[in-house]
Amino acid sequence: AIRCCSLSSRAQTEYVPNHIPDPNYIRVLDTTLRDGEQAAGATMTSNQKLEIARQLARLRVDIIEAGYPAASEEDSKIVQRIAREVGNGNYGPRRDSEEDDGYVPVICALARCTENDVRVAWEAVRHARRRRIHVFIGSSKIHMKEKLRKSETDVIEIAGKMIRFARSLGCEDIEFSPEDSGRSNKELLYKILGEAIKAGATTVNIPDTVGGSLHRGFRKLIRDIRTNTDGTENVIISIHCHNDRGLALANTLEGVYEGARQVEVTVNGIGERAGNAALEEFVMVLRGPGEHPQDIYTGINQLQIDTASKMVEEYSGLYLQPHKPIVGSNAYSHASGIHQDGMLKNKGTYEIFSPEEIGRQRSNQAGIELGRLSGSAGLKSVVNKIGFNLDDEQFENVFKSFKEIAKQKKKITELDVRTLVLDEIFKS
Ligand code: KIV
Ligand code: ZN
Repeated sequence: AIRCCSLSSRAQTEYVPNHIPDPNYIRVLDTTLRDGEQAAGATMTSNQKLEIARQLARLRVDIIEAGYPAASEEDSKIVQRIAREVGNGNYGPRRDSEEDDGYVPVICALARCTENDVRVAWEAVRHARRRRIHVFIGSSKIHMKEKLRKSETDVIEIAGKMIRFARSLGCEDIEFSPEDSGRSNKELLYKILGEAIKAGATTVNIPDTVGGSLHRGFRKLIRDIRTNTDGTENVIISIHCHNDRGLALANTLEGVYEGARQVEVTVNGIGERAGNAALEEFVMVLRGPGEHPQDIYTGINQLQIDTASKMVEEYSGLYLQPHKPIVGSNAYSHASGIHQDGMLKNKGTYEIFSPEEIGRQRSNQAGIELGRLSGSAGLKSVVNKIGFNLDDEQFENVFKSFKEIAKQKKKITELDVRTLVLDEIFKS
C-alpha cells in the first residue's frame, strides 16, 4: 500500500506508548546505533552516531534505539546527546514542503535486567521529549542455564522487578524482550511476557536472536503469544529478527501479519553476525507491489533511504554487496541487451520501482550499464546521450569496436564510448 508521509506522521503525533491510533500503522524501531553497531568492525565515533541519529529522524523512524549506555561512559554520553538534541526535534533542516506536525522520534536505550543498567539507561534518555527504556533478559534454556545461571522462576521475577524499577524512575514507555524467544519454551514466554505486562511494559518484543526460526513457525509463535498471554491486547507487540539464514525479513513480515505493530530493523541490515532485518527492505515490501493481509504501512520517508544507506555504509565501514536489494549499487542497473532495450522503451519492463523513489538519482536515463551483454539499443542511447548522431554505417562500426573492448573490460564508461565514436568519426 502506498501512503503519504503526512498521514502516517499524523498517527505519530498522538504518541501514547502502548497505543497506535490507526491499527494498520506499523511503528519502525531503528536499532542501527545499537544492534547494528554490535556488528563486527562496525564501531562508529560519537559524531558519526549523532549524524546517523539526525538522518534517522529525517527518515522518520518512530523510535531510535540509540545505544546501550551501560557499556561505557562514552556510550552513555552519546545516547544522552542524541536524546537532548534529536529527541527534542533538533535534527537539521526539514524539507520545505513538510509542515511541522510535531514529529519527534522516541529515543530508546537498552538495559540488561540490573538496577545499574536501568538507571544508567534512564539518565541517558530522560531529556528526550519521548523516551523509552528497553530491558531484556535471556529466556531460552541455554541462555538461562549457561549464561545467566538462573532458573525460570528467577528470570520471571527479575524481569518484573526491573520493569517496576524503571517505572519507579519515571519512565512510562518500557519495552521488554525475552532474549532468544525463538528458542524459548512457549509456556515460559506466556508467563514472562504476562508478568512484564503486569509490571508495566508497554511494548513486548519477540526477538529471534540467533535467526533460528522458520517463517511459518515464527508466525505461529506470535499467534500463540497473542492468544495465550494475559494483557497482550493492551500493549504493542514487536518483532526483532536476525538474518542468520536469510529469513529476517520474511519472519518480520509474518510477525506483522499476526498483529505485531512494531518492527525492529537496521539500515542496510547491519547487525550481529549476519545482521538484522533491513529497514529499507521492509519499507519497500510494504510499499508494494504485492498483497498483504491488511492495508499496513509505515511512516518512513522513502526519499531519505538512499542518504541513510550511504551514511551508514561509510560510517560503519560495512560495504554493501552491489546486488543488495533496494540500496545496492547494481539495484537499478541493466546490463543485458534485452533488458536495456526493454528499459529504453518502458522502465516498468524490468523495474518494480525506480531509484528516485528512495531518493537516488540515476547515473543515466534508464540505468544502462554498458558491458559484454549490451545490445545496440543500449549503446545507441549512450551515443545519443553524449551528444553524437551517427549514420548507420558509422554506428555499426562503433558497435563492432564496442563489442571487442567489452570482451576485455567489465564496464564500459561514457568516456570509452566517446573515444570509440571519435575514432570512427576521424578515421582516415
Ligand atoms: O537479538 C536480540 O535478542 C537483541 C535483544 C537485546 C532484543 O538484540
Ligand atoms: Zn538483536
